Amino acid sequence: MKQERYLTFALTKGRLADKTLGLLEQIGINCEEMHDKNTRKLIFVNEELKLKFFLSKGPDVPTYVEYGAADIGVVGKDTIMEEGRRAFEVLDLGFGKCRMCICGPASARKLLEHHEMIRVASKYPRIAKDYFYNQKFQTVDIIKLNGSVELGPIVGLADVIVDIVETGSTLRENGLEVLEEICPLSARMIVNQVSMRMENERIRKIIGELKELVK
Ligand code: PRP
Repeated sequence: MKQERYLTFALTKGRLADKTLGLLEQIGINCEEMHDKNTRKLIFVNEELKLKFFLSKGPDVPTYVEYGAADIGVVGKDTIMEEGRRAFEVLDLGFGKCRMCICGPASARKLLEHHEMIRVASKYPRIAKDYFYNQKFQTVDIIKLNGSVELGPIVGLADVIVDIVETGSTLRENGLEVLEEICPLSARMIVNQVSMRMENERIRKIIGELKELVK
């Protein structure tokens, strides 16, 4: 079948991209060029299948997909929720599993129970705000951090944090614990809304084959 147009994938740099490429390979989609770890190239092409791939920082993936610069993206559910971009979330890829949680010292539990006006540090201010304001109906002060968020309660910047918990070891090693679970997370495939209509057949085929693999 003649494929005119390239389908472009935006993948989250790092572990998610490696796992995604592994899955794609299993359904016969590969991109030799991407295996060269030393390359500075940004776009990788599979001419035969008329596919393009690029890697980007997680929060940029939904942006590329919303604007149609990429037809398909693979990114964590946390990033999808935080960025709030327009795109169809079509598949849970089943890897990168972790949880979005409110964490802090055990002593902060009562601050949550009593709906105190507390300070919440997070890399995910939108998720934190939505959870506290719209689900817990608790007014809080949200402080945006960019990493090592566990430091927040330790150095007295915040009472609790909203952050990702995977194994729980970062919390344990720092005397913190999960106080409430907000939602489960994993890697998701997202699709540009126009691409979904224009390239329906090709995209559905990819989703269908991946679905079989990950179910
Ligand atoms: C994430 C997250 C936690 C940690 C959780 O941080 O923000 O800090 O992983 O994993 P664990 O439950 O297995 O210990 P990441 O390593 O991505 O870096 P960051 O702290 O700079 O955001």
